[in-house]
Amino acid sequence: MSNSLIEAQDLWLRYGKGDAAYDALRGVDLAIDRGEFVAIVGPSGSGKSSLLHILGLMLNPTKAARLTLDGQDLVTASEATRTHLRKTKIGFVFQRLNLVSVLSAADNVRLAYWLRGEKPNGQADELLDRLGVGPIKHKRPTQMSVGQQQRVAVARAIAGSPQLLLADEPTGSLDSCNARLVLDLLRQVHEQQAGGLTTIIVTHNEDVANAADRIIHIHDGQVAHEPSIASH
Ligand SMILES: Nc1ncnc2c1ncn2[C@@H]1O[C@H](COP(=O)(O)OP(=O)(O)O)[C@@H](O)[C@H]1O
Ligand SMILES: [Mg+2]
Repeated sequence: MSNSLIEAQDLWLRYGKGDAAYDALRGVDLAIDRGEFVAIVGPSGSGKSSLLHILGLMLNPTKAARLTLDGQDLVTASEATRTHLRKTKIGFVFQRLNLVSVLSAADNVRLAYWLRGEKPNGQADELLDRLGVGPIKHKRPTQMSVGQQQRVAVARAIAGSPQLLLADEPTGSLDSCNARLVLDLLRQVHEQQAGGLTTIIVTHNEDVANAADRIIHIHDGQVAHEPSIASH
């Protein structure tokens, strides 16, 4: 089996139709190995979120020569297969944490298991303990600090041990101190996840990107391929 968890070739995404059509992704090629911690970096509007939504199976490309996840062809996959893959293999952290405001921290994490059709026998509590928010597990999001909410959001994202963790501007709404904590947390989760984790974060901030092992630059819907070291 290839060591790539994700392979994309000539990936296009068009929003709108006719005069309003806009190509947000214009022939993207990329490969991401199992276990990598990658940052996708580019200015606002460059297509980062669109790309992440495609990699997270929340959005279909308009066309692609190739798109695979864990060896599975996504171009021809049925909606049922895509939904199954999304639920079982992928975890998300969003910029606006998207915690359910009427649920406690513990129930927000349990919800992730319920949505996968699993019963969280104590795993939700274990995850919250591991991420340092066990003591506030009965609190609702509005009763937590932003840093605590971010920890709960990360716990929810890795509930059920996904293979792929996707984070869209995970530090975008945080001050630099909390941003650092979240990056350290993502790194810690990346290193410690049983069975291995591939992590992709999207950011417009070069400092944030430096927390990753590899940086992929995106501009106007195209991935810039760095010259190889041998060509220097
Ligand atoms: N639902 C949409 N309909 C039309 N255009 C969109 C839509 N979503 C994003 N776009 C456009 O596609 C481009 C890329 O957007 P996005 O992927 O959100 O970029 P980024 O995350 O890098 O800021 C932008 O020009 C944006 O305005
Ligand atoms: Mg975005």
